[in-house]
Amino acid sequence: MNEFQKELVLNLKKFCETSIEPHMEHDDASGTFRKEIFQGLGDYGVTGITIPEEFGGAGLSYMDYCYALEEIAKTSVPYAVTVSVSSMVQSILLEFGNKSQKEKYLPELTSGKEIGAFALSESHSGSDAANMKTTAKKVEGGYILNGTKMWITSAGVAKTYIVMARTGGEGAKGISAFIVTDGMKGFSYGKAEKKMGWKTSPTREIVFENCFVPEENRLLDEGQGFKVAMGGLDRGRVAIAAIGIGCAQRALDEAIKYSLTRQQFKQAIFDFQGLQFMIADMATETEASRFLVHSACHSLDTNRPNSKLCSMAKLKATDTAMKVTTDAVQVLGGVGYTSEYPVERFMRDAKVLQIVEGTNQIQRVVIARHLKKEYEQHA
Ligand code: CAA
Repeated sequence: MNEFQKELVLNLKKFCETSIEPHMEHDDASGTFRKEIFQGLGDYGVTGITIPEEFGGAGLSYMDYCYALEEIAKTSVPYAVTVSVSSMVQSILLEFGNKSQKEKYLPELTSGKEIGAFALSESHSGSDAANMKTTAKKVEGGYILNGTKMWITSAGVAKTYIVMARTGGEGAKGISAFIVTDGMKGFSYGKAEKKMGWKTSPTREIVFENCFVPEENRLLDEGQGFKVAMGGLDRGRVAIAAIGIGCAQRALDEAIKYSLTRQQFKQAIFDFQGLQFMIADMATETEASRFLVHSACHSLDTNRPNSKLCSMAKLKATDTAMKVTTDAVQVLGGVGYTSEYPVERFMRDAKVLQIVEGTNQIQRVVIARHLKKEYEQHA
């Protein structure tokens, strides 16, 4: 970590300790999202960290971004996710938007004034994203959208949605991407999900009933929407991986702290070799995941995006988060299973990291496809 990154992380740590941590137990139990917390993160420049300054971003690197996400996730996985999904929307606008789309939508997202959301999944097309049914029918001056998107992070609190819908025939080539904003006629919010974790991050259906979206809100040409979604997800997956590391690191810290003070059989439980082996493995897996995430960041920062590496980082870091948080609950024993300590919350928050932005089975599919292609090219 360079001096700037150390300062960024230290400032975020202070903000998280004073402005997020005191609310977490209550808000996790009540499912409360606080926009002022997100906007507070915006004041630190982390809600648009990799976007150039001309669009109100901080103009920093993916490495800086991942350090920031890791730090936020140590206190709150859900707020880190709100930042990461909004940032994925921005990365899509930056890469695929035209000048006026960037100028119109980026500044309020980068500043943290507004939140971005990403709408790809539908009830019957989660992993098989290219099989979506939501339609966008061409009409004079724009498109009419009809359909329902599921499991949308930040739906209801976000203002700007990147929505994939079918303008053409079956499969990936029939999909286009649109910018849809809260308040458009025919755009509404459906069922709010009751979830195991991520309780302070709203997840809802979004519904389109004859929703008119002007032509100027389409990203790229018709039929390019699947590439827009996949390009965004490559970056998003690295961010989810960084959140996984923060989640694992907090659980590890709690496990070490507790095991050094908890006495059983007249000694700190940390001093039992069985527990030391467990903690050493938790630390090693977390550190190995961090290296992989940093390697993926390096590929993005040097303009060599590498889907295989992004998927590897997501797979490894989020499986590690699940394993390490589960082991932390075990280390804390009975109290680990109660809300008296935060480790059970981190364990619940870790689970969905293995599912969102492509299940870890899908990450393996992406990795294997790349390996096959590389092998065939060099055979
Ligand atoms: N970048 C750019 N283009 C890409 C790409 C990428 N990373 N991956 C694929 N494409 C292109 C392909 O090149 C292909 O185009 P051509 O035919 O022109 O070559 C086209 O997209 C179709 O690709 P595939 O044939 O590989 O498509 P597929 O139907 O087999 O699906 C998949 C591939 C990897 C399984 C994909 O469907 C996938 O990633 N599924 C998981 C979906 C997902 O991640 N959902 C997350 C929901 S969002 C979320 O969770 C966010 C949140 O709110 C927290």
